[in-house]
Amino acid sequence: MDRQQGGKEIASWLQGLGLEQYAGAFIDNDIEPAILPKLSDDDLRELGVKSVGHRRRILAAIAELSHPPAQPPKANDNAKRDALQSAVPRREGSEAERRNLTVMFVDLVGSTVLASTLDPEDLGSVIAAYQSLVAAEVARYDGYVAKFMGDGVLCYFGWPLAHEEDAERAVRSGRSIVKAVASLRTPAQVPMAARVGIATGLCVVGEVIGTGSAHEEVVIGETPNLAARLQALAQPGYVVVAESTRKLLGGIFAVESLGPIELKGFSVPVSPFLVVGEHAIETRYDARVTSAPQVMFGRDLELGLALERWGQAKRGEGQLVLLSGEAGIGKSRITRALIDAVSQENHVRVSYQCSPYYSGSPLYPAVQQLRRTIGIGEADEDEEKVRKLEATKGPANPLLPIFASLLDLQNHHSDALTGLNPQQLRARTLDGLLDDILDAAARLPLLFVIEDIHWIDATTLELLDQCVERIQHARVMMMVTTRPTFEHGFGGHPIVTKLALNRLGREQTTAFIEKLAGDIRLPPTIVDKIIATTDGVPLFIEELTKGVLEARHFDRAAVFDEDHAGLANLDIPLTLHDSLMARLDRLQPVKEVAQMAACIGREFRHDLLRSVTRLSAAQLEEALDQLVDAELVFRRGRGSDARYTFKHALVRDAAYHSMLKSVRQHIHSQLADKLGSESTAEPELVAHHLMAAKRYREAAECFLQAGRAAAARFANPEAVAHFTSALHALEAVTNSGDANELELGIRIEMGVPLNASAGYASEKVEANFLRAEELCISTGLTSNLFFARRSLWNFYLDRPDLHRSRHLAKELLVEASRRENVEETTLAHRALATSYFYLGAIGDAAREAEAGINAWATSDRHFDVARYGEDGPSICRSYLGVAQVLAGRVDTGLANCASSVETAERLDHPLNLAFILMNLALARRFRNEPVECRAIAEQMLILADNRRLASWSGGARTLLGWAIGSDLPDEGLKMLRDGINRWRSTGSELATLLFVDCGYLPPAWTDR
Ligand SMILES: Nc1ncnc2c1ncn2[C@@H]1O[C@H](COP(=O)(O)OP(=O)(O)O)[C@@H](O)[C@H]1O
Ligand SMILES: [Mg+2]
Repeated sequence: MDRQQGGKEIASWLQGLGLEQYAGAFIDNDIEPAILPKLSDDDLRELGVKSVGHRRRILAAIAELSHPPAQPPKANDNAKRDALQSAVPRREGSEAERRNLTVMFVDLVGSTVLASTLDPEDLGSVIAAYQSLVAAEVARYDGYVAKFMGDGVLCYFGWPLAHEEDAERAVRSGRSIVKAVASLRTPAQVPMAARVGIATGLCVVGEVIGTGSAHEEVVIGETPNLAARLQALAQPGYVVVAESTRKLLGGIFAVESLGPIELKGFSVPVSPFLVVGEHAIETRYDARVTSAPQVMFGRDLELGLALERWGQAKRGEGQLVLLSGEAGIGKSRITRALIDAVSQENHVRVSYQCSPYYSGSPLYPAVQQLRRTIGIGEADEDEEKVRKLEATKGPANPLLPIFASLLDLQNHHSDALTGLNPQQLRARTLDGLLDDILDAAARLPLLFVIEDIHWIDATTLELLDQCVERIQHARVMMMVTTRPTFEHGFGGHPIVTKLALNRLGREQTTAFIEKLAGDIRLPPTIVDKIIATTDGVPLFIEELTKGVLEARHFDRAAVFDEDHAGLANLDIPLTLHDSLMARLDRLQPVKEVAQMAACIGREFRHDLLRSVTRLSAAQLEEALDQLVDAELVFRRGRGSDARYTFKHALVRDAAYHSMLKSVRQHIHSQLADKLGSESTAEPELVAHHLMAAKRYREAAECFLQAGRAAAARFANPEAVAHFTSALHALEAVTNSGDANELELGIRIEMGVPLNASAGYASEKVEANFLRAEELCISTGLTSNLFFARRSLWNFYLDRPDLHRSRHLAKELLVEASRRENVEETTLAHRALATSYFYLGAIGDAAREAEAGINAWATSDRHFDVARYGEDGPSICRSYLGVAQVLAGRVDTGLANCASSVETAERLDHPLNLAFILMNLALARRFRNEPVECRAIAEQMLILADNRRLASWSGGARTLLGWAIGSDLPDEGLKMLRDGINRWRSTGSELATLLFVDCGYLPPAWTDR
């Protein structure tokens, strides 16, 4: 390259940085492009670049030259990991991912005019300068240039690497771009301008089209469209953000609403915002937390300790409290609480906020603090800044030159430092800053807050180290916050107190959720779900709860589904998404292992994971080691027996949701096969994977098995949940085939568990058996018809629709006799006896009950109690007994009741036993024998509550309430009411009148 050509390139490069004034010096000193990477800070100073800011800008741009922008950042530079990366087999299309992405669209204003006025070659170089400028500003904030489209540039923040604050990065980058483009000139010296649109939303991003050279990284979703449309709304030189993006920004930027606007291609109006400036925030926490008084749960000890140290500091024993904990655990919250607690005291506060964008900028936090205290505005000219500086710090302050140099001011103060070499300047600056702090502390106690030192630059860190040495006898307390990954203990200096923050406990979490929900009462299941998902991390609790409240998910069936006895996954709030993805992205390529593990669940077994990955045992082990090292998962046990748990449920969710649905489906399918082949695997687990693999028919069968197993353990609510899941799975089966038969089988098997857990009169019972009846007829499987109709009979009885129930019972009898089925005949007589009994036809009831007993007497089989949930003959005998008691044949009646109890106890079927106890207790109550009634009702209550029998825990209370009412009227009445309410809550109104009728009130009440 000849000298002239090199000089030109240097000049245009400097122009791109807005620093063309140094071009002459560079060229005079023979600085060619190839030499740039070797330039040091000192060289620049020698070249006459006096401004620290300008030197920083040049060095940053040089750094970018060696790491060219617009390349996906290399996942990591660790050789071991690279080896692993190449070993991870790529699935077809596996690079595509689902992401919440912040998309930025940049456009050059007036490019068509340019095109028509410029020579094509000149136009080319104008566009090239513009493009490289945009690329540099995007790279500076770790964004990714996806595509140059003439003068339009499409950029992503959040892919291929996510950061905690991608939305903020995008806006910062957009603002730098419009600012930098404004300094570009056309060959005719006309200033140029760009405008920027930014939007955030769910996208599918990655190499989804073609392979090899034809591949293209595309984003699918409406977000890029929105960004492009918003860009068109912006005035030249401005950034417009979508509402989704603004929400993520908190209070960092000043914005103005552009109101609801109809946009082409969008069905609903959008409400974008114009970014008009940046707020001078003291801490990032303040920018995020907008609403005023905040509560703090727990943390009394931590705050107490910090205040204790503050007390010491005030007495002249300087202190440093180092608060460490993961993101969102509450470091800033406690710091804020400390600030509030001392706010009434006369003191000085200095706040340094370290920034993830400026860990390479020396003293960035100090400079920002200075700008804030002296009130420098974005648009202030140098003279104005000098004036404000002198006004705040005093015109005769000997530190003015230091401050002026920190603020990059070219004026008489900064001249005072000329001639110092860099080391000297640095030393003077640090000394000056510390003097400033100690001077202030000499007048008043000083609280020095340094937030987020994991992002600190080396110079500020050195400042802090020196500060620790110098404050030992000063009235200074340093409150430092950091994430645990950053290890700097200030050398274990004696004035340092280290405080590691723990997660919030369950109680505090619950209180926090309730507080956030305000007047809204979240269902306990939702609260439990939030607790389980957020693991006591306040940030997660806050964001997830807010997300739930915003979506009002809790009254939507999709999330809260009682039938399912569970909850759908709560969506990951957008505000958490980026930070969770960032944790995973840092771990390329083991992220893929994390994703597969996420398909297994929050907990996963090594051997199961092994069965779905193509990694060798050693590679897998290594990937898992990395996940453990990164504290994303915990490990218990070793080798192939090891079990792992994602540290946070939300990390698992983020990994899971980032996979393409098709990929997830495939992995779930493999997991289902693997688990299905293990004899010990729980059927519901296999079913879960089958569902996710969209193998619905098989899933239904597995859920049926799970339901059956639960029913056999008399775990009825669980059984109902599994059966219901089986039915849901069947709904998704498209080619119905024999699905109807399977559905009928499920509905019949669900009968008893449903009666036990929901009672007899629940709408679910009616719906289930009406459908079962219909299926019997349509499939021709009429052998189940009796079962379905008998259940319907019981439903109408309890509602009560007594005449209809008697009518149905008679039909049942006809049907059963026609089929010559003894079991069914017995049950039909029992049904009819019950209907008569509650109709008050005691004689008819006794006759039918006896007929039932006799029908079964000839059978030599065991009655199928499990199938019907009751032992027909004993129930008949107990009804016969109560009827006899009412008819005055007390001894025989009571003997029949007692003998049926004996049989029921022997059979030991809870539902059957409760029923028969009920009838005996009823007989005692009809006889006005509270003592005897009480003994039985108590037995019944324990049984019903222990076995979660919905109807009978109500029934037992009504009887017990009546019985104890003779001794303890108030308590009795309370229990009776509770019983009636429970009974009614199952949908039943049968016999409730009996309880409220005075004739049946306990003797003590009627005596009054
Ligand atoms: N003990 C607490 N009680 C109530 N809210 C809390 C508590 N700790 C943290 N928060 C809230 O959780 C969020 C995250 O806390 P923050 O202090 O910003 O975490 P960190 O600084 O450790 O990243 C904040 O909105 C904060 O107000
Ligand atoms: Mg914080």
